Order: sequence, then structure tokens, then C-alpha cells
Amino acid sequence: MTHRSRKQQLFLCFIALLAVTLRQSYAATDAPPTAAPPTPPTRPERGNYSVTNGNGTTCLMARMGLQINISVSSAALNKTVWKVQNLQPNLTRSSGSCDLESATLQLTDVPNKTNLTLVFSMNATTNKFHLSAVSLSAIWPDVKRPIAESNGSLDYLRGTAGRSYMCREEQTLAVTVNFSLNTFQLQVQPFNLTGAEFGTAEECQLDEDDMLIPIIVGAALAGLVLVVLVAYLIGRKRSHAGYQTI
Ligand SMILES: *[C@@H]1O[C@H](CO)[C@@H](O)[C@H](O)[C@H]1NC(C)=O
Ligand SMILES: *[C@@H]1O[C@H](CO)[C@@H](O)[C@H](O)[C@H]1NC(C)=O
Ligand SMILES: *[C@@H]1O[C@H](CO)[C@@H](O)[C@H](O)[C@H]1NC(C)=O
Ligand SMILES: *[C@@H]1O[C@H](CO)[C@@H](O)[C@H](O)[C@H]1NC(C)=O
Ligand SMILES: *[C@@H]1O[C@H](CO)[C@@H](O)[C@H](O)[C@H]1NC(C)=O
Ligand SMILES: *[C@@H]1O[C@H](CO)[C@@H](O)[C@H](O)[C@H]1NC(C)=O
Ligand SMILES: *[C@@H]1O[C@H](CO)[C@@H](O)[C@H](O)[C@H]1NC(C)=O
Ligand SMILES: *[C@@H]1O[C@H](CO)[C@@H](O)[C@H](O)[C@H]1NC(C)=O
Ligand SMILES: *[C@@H]1O[C@H](CO)[C@@H](O)[C@H](O)[C@H]1NC(C)=O
Ligand SMILES: *[C@@H]1O[C@H](CO)[C@@H](O)[C@H](O)[C@H]1NC(C)=O
Ligand SMILES: *[C@@H]1O[C@H](CO)[C@@H](O)[C@H](O)[C@H]1NC(C)=O
Repeated sequence: MTHRSRKQQLFLCFIALLAVTLRQSYAATDAPPTAAPPTPPTRPERGNYSVTNGNGTTCLMARMGLQINISVSSAALNKTVWKVQNLQPNLTRSSGSCDLESATLQLTDVPNKTNLTLVFSMNATTNKFHLSAVSLSAIWPDVKRPIAESNGSLDYLRGTAGRSYMCREEQTLAVTVNFSLNTFQLQVQPFNLTGAEFGTAEECQLDEDDMLIPIIVGAALAGLVLVVLVAYLIGRKRSHAGYQTI
């Protein structure tokens, strides 16, 4: 009896294995012929961009990776698509100008086909700055029409005079319905630079949230260690006391 049932079990096991194998091979052959999967956009390289004043002093500094995300009319596909384009630091020139209440960073690619302009404004009464305008003009070979997107009433990257704004996490800055800018590992100071050095960094909320998790985990672990330690010490004291009384 037991011998037969063990044999049966073995047989059932074999059948099950076979079924699984067949199912997998069927699934593999059933799958539609996969077109090349859309390649996910790569992370843009981080660039050092700066603006120098008329007298040669650096008045704006930015370190960041930039990615343009824009809805364009593709010539090859004959339809509107979202195009993701990284700025390549070694193929990008930076220029611009600074005055007391506004600072402009213009980033141009080497063949002069892409011009991205960021304007920062300083509010002299509050001593706070922010990114107030972004514009993009570009002529790309695979895009039907010249690109021209801009928004002059933005309020991003808010910081304090004399300090830099920092955001390690990826941030998406929506400029228009058809154009947004993704920033990576950003640090920028558009005003009150002393030498070519960033002032104290003010971190964005995303980074602070990110930092909160390890802090909470660390605190929980420390608490656990403390509880174990206290329990151990109490236990030791008790057993010690017990030993003495005997
Ligand atoms: C950018 O600047 C930082 C700090 O000044 C420096 O360490 C780094 O090597 C620079 N990177 C490039 C690509 O110039
Ligand atoms: C350069 O010009 C800025 C204002 O345009 C001024 O604040 C700064 O002191 C000048 N620096 C030198 C070295 O002249
Ligand atoms: C680009 O923007 C579109 C529309 O907002 C969005 O669906 C897409 O995920 C964005 N792509 C990237 C890489 O940010
Ligand atoms: C592009 O698409 C439009 C309508 O979507 C169509 O009228 C036109 O013929 C297409 N052109 C090409 C070259 O396929
Ligand atoms: C720019 O950088 C990329 C990636 O690091 C590299 O492949 C390319 O050769 C560089 N181009 C120039 C002109 O330095
Ligand atoms: C790009 O523009 C700059 C400044 O206007 C100019 O000096 C440079 O020669 C231009 N380069 C090309 C490839 O047109
Ligand atoms: C500066 O900020 C204050 C308070 O937010 C605001 O009332 C004022 O309009 C701002 N000034 C400028 C020039 O934007
Ligand atoms: C970008 O700016 C340069 C210099 O200002 C100009 O010569 C070029 O035509 C611009 N390119 C586009 C696509 O707007
Ligand atoms: C920033 O620079 C402006 C103009 O040079 C000056 O008036 C202001 O006091 C400076 N603020 C700080 C915090 O350094
Ligand atoms: C410019 O940005 C503001 C704030 O994000 C938005 O309310 C407004 O619709 C934008 N304007 C355009 C033309 O996209
Ligand atoms: C955004 O792109 C779509 C598709 O190309 C276009 O129909 C629409 O007019 C654009 N919107 C703006 C505000 O440019």
C-alpha cells in the first residue's frame, strides 16, 4: 500500500513538473514577437555650468544633470511623440548674465541647435531667489517644426540669498503642458557667490524625505539595541543577586 502510494506520488510529481515545463515553453512561443522594447532614457551626465560677469567674476554656478522631455511632431513616425533628450555636458556651452535682481543661464549645444535658458529672480525684500522663467528653442533634425516653448511665471528651486539650492533626487519641473525639465543631482547658486564656491546648501523636500527613512530605521535599531542591553543588564543583576543569596 505505502509502496504504491509513494510510486503514485512520484508519478504525480513528474506529471506536475512536465505540465509546468510545457506551460512555460508554450508561454514563450505564444508571446507575440517582441519589437525592440523602448529603451528607457538614460540618466543625464552631471555638468558644471557657470556664468561670469563683465569683470570676470563668477556670478552664477550650477552643477546638474538635465533632461528635456518634450512633445514633438516626429518626422520619421509622422505623429506626435514624447521625446526625451539629455544635455551632454561636454557638448554644451554655458553663457548668460547677472544683475542684482535677475540671473540668466543660457545653455547651448555645440551645433547651436538647442538653446535652453533658465532665469532666476531675486526678491530684494525677502532675500529669496527662485527659478522664474525657462525657455527652449531648438531645431532638431527628426522634428518637423522648430521648437519654441517658454514660461515666464514659474516658481521653482526656491532658495535664500547667499546660499545654494540643492536637490540630489530627480525633480521634474513642468514648464508648459508640452515641455518639462528633469533635473538630477542639482546644486545651483544664482546670486551672492563668493569666489567660485557654493554657499551653504539648502536641500529640497525630496532629499529630506529621503533622508528620513534611514534616520527612522537607525533610531528603531538603536532603540532595539538599548532594550536588549537593558534586559541583559537587568537579567545579569538578578542572576548575580540570586547567586549571592544561595
Ligand atoms: C565640476 O566641479 C567639481 C567641483 O568644483 C569638480 O570636482 C568636478 O571635477 C567638475 N567636473 C567637471 C566635469 O568639470
Ligand atoms: C564685479 O562686478 C560686480 C557687479 O557687477 C561687483 O559686485 C564686483 O565687486 C566686481 N568685482 C570686481 C573684482 O571688480
Ligand atoms: C515625459 O512627459 C510625459 C508626459 O508628462 C510623461 O508621461 C513621461 O513619463 C515623461 N518622461 C520622462 C522620462 O520624464
Ligand atoms: C502623416 O499623417 C497624416 C495624418 O495623420 C497623413 O495625412 C499623411 O499622409 C501622413 N504622411 C506620411 C508621409 O505618411
Ligand atoms: C562626450 O562625452 C561622451 C560620454 O562621456 C563621450 O562618449 C564623447 O566622446 C564625448 N565627446 C566629446 C566631444 O568629448
Ligand atoms: C554658435 O554660436 C556661437 C555664439 O553665437 C558662435 O560663436 C559659434 O560659432 C556658433 N557655432 C556654430 C557651429 O554655429
Ligand atoms: C517679494 O516678495 C513679497 C512677499 O512674498 C511680495 O509681496 C513681493 O511682491 C515680491 N517682490 C517681487 C519684486 O517679486
Ligand atoms: C541658439 O542661440 C544661438 C546664439 O544666440 C543662435 O545663433 C542660434 O540660432 C539659436 N538656435 C536656436 C535653435 O534657436
Ligand atoms: C547678496 O548680494 C546683494 C547684492 O550684491 C546684497 O545687497 C545682499 O546683501 C547680499 N545678501 C547676502 C545674504 O549676502
Ligand atoms: C506657466 O507655469 C505656471 C505655473 O506652473 C502655469 O500655471 C502656467 O499655466 C504656465 N503657462 C504656460 C503658458 O504653460
Ligand atoms: C501641445 O502639443 C499638442 C500636440 O502636438 C498640440 O496639439 C498642442 O497645441 C500643444 N499645446 C500647446 C499649449 O502648445
